[in-house]
Amino acid sequence: MSVNLEGNILVTGANRGIGLELVKQLAENTGQEAHIYAGCREPDGTRAEALKQLTIQYPGKITAIKLAYVADEGSISTAVQAVSERIGSAGLNVLINNAAINTPAPPGSFLETKKKHMMDVYETNVVGPFILSKMFLPLLQRAAERCPTGDKMSCRRSAIINISTVFSSIEKCPETFELAQVYAYRTSKAALNMLTRCQAEDFKTNNILVTAIHPGWVRTDMGGEQAPVTPSESVMGILRVMSSLSNKDSGTLVDWGGERIPW
Ligand SMILES: NC(=O)c1ccc[n+]([C@@H]2O[C@H](COP(=O)([O-])OP(=O)(O)OC[C@H]3O[C@@H](n4cnc5c(N)ncnc54)[C@H](OP(=O)(O)O)[C@@H]3O)[C@@H](O)[C@H]2O)c1
Repeated sequence: MSVNLEGNILVTGANRGIGLELVKQLAENTGQEAHIYAGCREPDGTRAEALKQLTIQYPGKITAIKLAYVADEGSISTAVQAVSERIGSAGLNVLINNAAINTPAPPGSFLETKKKHMMDVYETNVVGPFILSKMFLPLLQRAAERCPTGDKMSCRRSAIINISTVFSSIEKCPETFELAQVYAYRTSKAALNMLTRCQAEDFKTNNILVTAIHPGWVRTDMGGEQAPVTPSESVMGILRVMSSLSNKDSGTLVDWGGERIPW
């Protein structure tokens, strides 16, 4: 499997962790025609320094887009307009819903988890991807319609990729629960999986592929220092998997090696 992605690709949470690495490897591994939109809260702020460096390293390939809060309609509307103006009639080929939070910090037990944690995590991890996909849908549809590949779905045509986790799997809960209870995070990502499944049904007629991907346990601020997988390894896997996705993968949860994870 090699990386075979093109077109206009938007990544949320692009200033650090897996999101930043996605932007880097997409810039490295896509052709002249591809363009990467890097959504982050403050593109001009100090927390986006690494992203700014990437935009310099790959001139004309990356546009940083302000997404002040992934669940804020005003902010998303401005982002849709900014992307729309730049891509013209081409449409958006891929929306990668990557931004997420995991609070309270692991283990995030039942008693530790408060109402505010549940609400904040649900808003960022579920409501954010819901509203983003709703507001970017016209651009995704435009890309799907322009593609000459018949009725075949792919990330080169039009796709929503929801970055999920193995912790979202209800079937796997007995084997993963002791690693980190993280009630708010697990339940939010299980809801994100259902969003993935529903949208896959809904957008089938539009030829928009919708797939959830588990990136592995990755050494980022969220994954922590003990994580065995580097962001570079994880993203290499994610991009290979994305390159190979087709109709049969829409509405599924797969890991960064391409293996199917049960709901
Ligand atoms: N790391 C792992 O081991 C692991 C395992 C399974 C799944 N995942 C999933 O992989 C994805 C990326 O994780 P990561 O490890 O790269 O996380 P991370 O290092 O904590 O980075 C999270 C990113 O999301 C952004 N973000 C969070 N809340 C936001 C909001 N409300 N509005 C806008 N941006 C927001 C952050 O922006 P700021 O810098 O502005 O806060 C940051 O760019 C997540 O969906 C996560 O659930 C990670």
